[in-house]
Amino acid sequence: MPSKLSSRSSLIILVALLLAVLFLTASRLHNASPAFSHLVEDWSYRPSASSSEVTPTKDAVHDGIPPQGPLHAPTGSKPVKINDVSPPNPAIQAFCSHDLDLLRQKDLGLTQKVLYTRRCVRPVYKSTTDPSVLANVTDDPFFTSTVTIDLQSSDSCVAGTKPPPCEPLTLHVPPAYPDPTDSHYRHFLFGVASTYDRVESSLPVFKHWMANTGARIVFVITDARRNDRPLDLDALRKKYRAEGMRAEVISPQWTSPLPRKNNLHPNPDDPMPTEQLHFLMIRDMLHFVAHPSVEDTLGEDDEIFPEVHWLGILDDDTFFPHLHPVSKALSKYNHSQPLYLGALSDNFHALQDWGYIAFGGAGVFLSVPLAQQLNPLLETCLAETDISSGDGMLAACVYAKTTAKLTLIPGLWQHDIRGDPAGVFEGGRGRPMLSLHHWKSWYHAPVREMAGVVKVCGECFLQRWRFWPPMSVVDDDGSLRGREAAGQGTPDAVVLTNGWSVSVYQRGSLAEGFDLDWTEATFDSAPGDGRYDFTYGPFRRRMEEHEKKSYRLALVDGPKEVEPEGTETASKGGWGSSKKAEGKRKFRQIYVHKAKEEGGMDEVVELMWEV
Ligand SMILES: *[C@@H]1O[C@H](CO)[C@@H](O)[C@H](O)[C@H]1NC(C)=O
Ligand SMILES: *[C@@H]1O[C@H](CO)[C@@H](O)[C@H](O)[C@H]1NC(C)=O
Repeated sequence: MPSKLSSRSSLIILVALLLAVLFLTASRLHNASPAFSHLVEDWSYRPSASSSEVTPTKDAVHDGIPPQGPLHAPTGSKPVKINDVSPPNPAIQAFCSHDLDLLRQKDLGLTQKVLYTRRCVRPVYKSTTDPSVLANVTDDPFFTSTVTIDLQSSDSCVAGTKPPPCEPLTLHVPPAYPDPTDSHYRHFLFGVASTYDRVESSLPVFKHWMANTGARIVFVITDARRNDRPLDLDALRKKYRAEGMRAEVISPQWTSPLPRKNNLHPNPDDPMPTEQLHFLMIRDMLHFVAHPSVEDTLGEDDEIFPEVHWLGILDDDTFFPHLHPVSKALSKYNHSQPLYLGALSDNFHALQDWGYIAFGGAGVFLSVPLAQQLNPLLETCLAETDISSGDGMLAACVYAKTTAKLTLIPGLWQHDIRGDPAGVFEGGRGRPMLSLHHWKSWYHAPVREMAGVVKVCGECFLQRWRFWPPMSVVDDDGSLRGREAAGQGTPDAVVLTNGWSVSVYQRGSLAEGFDLDWTEATFDSAPGDGRYDFTYGPFRRRMEEHEKKSYRLALVDGPKEVEPEGTETASKGGWGSSKKAEGKRKFRQIYVHKAKEEGGMDEVVELMWEV
């Protein structure tokens, strides 16, 4: 019996060996198939440089070619066995090629290593969401995980490194604004009097809110006639048109100053003051109401040009996050009547100086009937006053010559604030923010980036959330998460102001009864002598640097379609990982806290909106 069994087992072993040989041959043959040999060949012909020096390129990911692993085979040696190569996680590839490039941008000027936190925001759209309320996000400390990333090294891009975590974050937001079509905002005609260079450099900012909206804009180039070099107005017009803006670029109708109350015989050789051109622009704008450009008409079928309802007189640094809320606010008024709409200054001293007028930087809106009443009176109005500001001349003319009086539109902001505007953006008083002004002079704010999120959820721009509990928890692997990981201790509060900042109020900084809706006195003269109380009060004290850590918005990307290969190949944890992301758009906000001390690490918070 034993011998019979053993001979049977020898037979089994023999058959098994035979099968194994057959299998190996087959797999060799398979390896030699064209598709596969191409791959192997491709890999073996890589430069012999060590793999860690080679950053996988976008194209490699794009084409679906597995990026090279740690290969050492020099050219001409036998092909590398597939098993020797562990293909990198595609999710990591996706992260490296797209995500890190954004952080590597020179303008950001980040330190080589950064402390990096990101969250994948899943907005929940609800029309009942009130964006002016500081909302609570419970059971979420916001800083759920923070990792160190070396932006220079490609090591973080090769196999074995996990992509940074991206824990989902649910935020309740108001619905997105309706997509503007080419004719959505044709009832607006804007006017700006400024220099050629300023109009030219402002194009990207105007583009944010004007492009493809149907709104039109007239630029009166104040230095068109007094510049030593010839200015190509038509080239500037074409530049704006090429970016989807219905722009007109014209030179002033007047070459020398008009008589004023305090200067009845001005020197005709003096240049025409910009302020006078700003006021007289009403006539230019009315011209374009009656004479739209050929390319602005709706076509042969619709020969009657749609009616312009509002003339919007702007400064060259007036910014609208979006035209929708402006249009909505103005729709409450009957544009067939003579109307003068706008905002006071937010600084009471400016009111004392300039009076009860619509301050120009906030945006002034005239109905066409009012503009038509003013048009024949413009020269007379100029002659009867000595007011030096364009918006002041306009107010004086409206008050003295028509029955229209100023109607205030909440949300238009003159922003007569200098220094750090954080208190206005982060507090509860400066909202809604239909317009912003002085953002590139009196204070500095990246308005275009800030307002990028209006394309995702409209009124969620500057919406605020407070995260509870604002404390760290110990991770499964025993490491501390969140702020504890960055050595900050448990903060009193973490607040996200959408499009502006993430603020970490450090432990002990918030006293009992502290109200985050109050305006932090961050800007000059606040609270000071009370000049801002009537708009932004009550104030809370300005936080010391060690009390509040701010990550300010520095950069945005998108919204753009999630690339299909990202969704297909990424594994768990990557931004493109979830199947849900397929066919979705993503929008990225990069918030940065610059290292305070020499040799410190900058910190980055990235919000990846998936919509
Ligand atoms: C958020 O939570 C705080 C503390 O519990 C509470 O006082 C506040 O009313 C809450 N806010 C909202 C909008 O529910
Ligand atoms: C708007 O004003 C015009 C002119 O006064 C008037 O004819 C019209 O009825 C008004 N429209 C509304 C909705 O009140």
